[in-house]
Amino acid sequence: PLGLCLLLLLLPLPLPGSSGRRGAALPWERTDEPGSGGAWSGFRRLRERLRAAGALSKRYWALFSCQVWPDDCEDHEKAAPGPFGWSLPVLGQQYLDILTTWYCSLRDCCDSGDCRISNNFTGLESDLNVRLHGQHLARELVLRTVRGYLAMPRPEKPLALLFHGWSGTGKNFVARMLAENLYRDGLRSDCVRMFIAMFHFPHPKYVDLYKEQLTGQIQETQQLCPQTLFIFDEAEKLHPELLEVLGQYLEHSVPEGHKAKPPRAIFLFLSNLRGNIINEVVLNLLKSGLSREEITMEHLEPHLHAEIVESTDSGFGHSCLVKENLIDFFVPFLPLEYRHVRLCVRDAFLSQELQYTEEALDEIAKMMVYVPKEEQLFSFQGCKSISQRINYILP
Ligand SMILES: *[C@@H]1O[C@H](CO)[C@@H](O)[C@H](O)[C@H]1NC(C)=O
Repeated sequence: PLGLCLLLLLLPLPLPGSSGRRGAALPWERTDEPGSGGAWSGFRRLRERLRAAGALSKRYWALFSCQVWPDDCEDHEKAAPGPFGWSLPVLGQQYLDILTTWYCSLRDCCDSGDCRISNNFTGLESDLNVRLHGQHLARELVLRTVRGYLAMPRPEKPLALLFHGWSGTGKNFVARMLAENLYRDGLRSDCVRMFIAMFHFPHPKYVDLYKEQLTGQIQETQQLCPQTLFIFDEAEKLHPELLEVLGQYLEHSVPEGHKAKPPRAIFLFLSNLRGNIINEVVLNLLKSGLSREEITMEHLEPHLHAEIVESTDSGFGHSCLVKENLIDFFVPFLPLEYRHVRLCVRDAFLSQELQYTEEALDEIAKMMVYVPKEEQLFSFQGCKSISQRINYILP
């Protein structure tokens, strides 16, 4: 048929098995136009040509754009290929697939819409169960809130979680697990930004500059990606004016009505603010005969909230984030005990592919300092710098 021939002319792509043309510049790949977006502007030319190519090509165009941008697809065309009651000639379908693959290798799309976003909850659940030790509250809360948020058809505001607890208890670890399981490229993803307060915003006198940078980065990331993750480490050290800026992003956002998928954002704030109070509460509960796993949010939450609002050593408690309830969940990280440290040591051996003995696990776990003086119950540094300690005892 004429349409198919037209399409063949329009798409001088190598057939599987044909030789030679691979690697040669395709007509729309030329980047010789100054200031042009290279492949992208070439693609726009291709799009014009395809559009001009008549009725059958329109069908192909519809199929192609449905494969590439499922969101923009009319509903009745969505189940491509083959939803029209007529099937594509085999060869045409082949070209369509090649073109889609090529296009998607440049942009970031695939069947599910956006390949950069993996949202692997199986992986997240398994990581939280297997690699995180001693944090039954955080484990459950993180999985439940994140899964729930990402499943909401129309979230009203970004999800904001405050992770707090002593250093070494796993806050960074869980933030990284989220990045790795929600995004194909983990922390390096276009969709993920991590800020460390004293590293990215160290000097209070530059706060105006930082505000601009922060706003710019958040907006840019949200434009690049429909589902974003922002991590703020050392959140208690963020300048109050930066917290105000963040407050604006955490307020209720009105999702654009017509889009099939409204944008989503998760904000994680990591803080060791008043980690001591968690430890105190946990210590008292353990002393009263409760087992660690019986500790619930109801035991901890009242203490935490009150303490954070009252804390005077940081702007965090006084910021709009806490005052206006923009933080959705307080996620407590409990102090780690000897048996948890021992598990961290075992994991560190395994991740370095080293053999270990039970004695070695004990030896390294005993190198940590345990507090309080009397009970010697909690590792002062949690599971921090375990792998360095392994290197230290190795012959
Ligand atoms: C999800 O994560 C698990 C565990 O890491 C992995 O085995 C699985 O292949 C992942 N699934 C997808 C769809 O990436």
